[in-house]
Amino acid sequence: MKVGAWSELKHIALSRYVDSARGARARWGYTSFIDLFCGPGRVINRETKEMLDGGVLTAWKMSARGQGPFSQVFIGDLDGDAVDACERRLVAANAPVRSFVGSAIQTVDTVMAELPHGLHFAYLDPFSIEQLDFELIRKLSSQRHIDILIHFSVMDVQRNIGGDFKLSSSRLDAAAPGWRDALKLDVLPKREHVGAYLEYWESLVVELARMQVSANKPLFVNANRGPLYRLIHLSRHELPQKLWNDAALPKSTQQRLPF
Ligand SMILES: C[S@@+](CC[C@H](N)C(=O)[O-])C[C@H]1O[C@@H](n2cnc3c(N)ncnc32)[C@H](O)[C@@H]1O
Repeated sequence: MKVGAWSELKHIALSRYVDSARGARARWGYTSFIDLFCGPGRVINRETKEMLDGGVLTAWKMSARGQGPFSQVFIGDLDGDAVDACERRLVAANAPVRSFVGSAIQTVDTVMAELPHGLHFAYLDPFSIEQLDFELIRKLSSQRHIDILIHFSVMDVQRNIGGDFKLSSSRLDAAAPGWRDALKLDVLPKREHVGAYLEYWESLVVELARMQVSANKPLFVNANRGPLYRLIHLSRHELPQKLWNDAALPKSTQQRLPF
């Protein structure tokens, strides 16, 4: 899977968090890592051609470096070949893996039904905001001890929000159902539209998933400093929030944009 340099930063943040939560995992009898958009498990930097581990391989290998390796790694993807490749790579790295082919909105049910009591960490890394169905978050949140790290495509929101606001259906509906009724975009300056959508999405996280959004939401930009996505961390407890706020990329490396 070809990616830009920003993908590497995402994996650094993920791996720093997995590392920092090692002590917390070690206190649980069972811990899981869940990636329902796993891809083939390997990425190639489009410019440098360097081959690197994808998100789930990065997370597993970091967890296995010391105390608190994940007890189980669940992977899924719509693309069966990607799932096979990712599973092979995880098995080669000695990961206890369970794999599923299918749309995340279906595989999430299968995975949730298999989860024993424990501490769970879900990583949602879809290509676009359209695939970030809010139902996924709601279903994952039915586990009491779970935290969720989300690739939230700011670029998709920015590209579509103005045009979609007046349509009867939109590519942004699944991620934040009801946004077109809730937001008064016609009276807001354009530069505040994405921020308003994100704020509404966060209100759904609190009301429907009963989870909190961590303060550190690093923004990743492309070579022209155009916004791509934020990494957003959800949890229910102070410790994971603190760990994420400290582990995610330092604020100095993030961009100052109005959303
Ligand atoms: C950004 S890539 C994942 C990259 C991977 N997480 C990594 O870190 O290397 C998104 C993946 O989502 C898969 N995909 C697209 N739509 C999907 C859906 N509705 N359900 C599950 N997977 C989907 C694609 O096949 C692709 O492999």
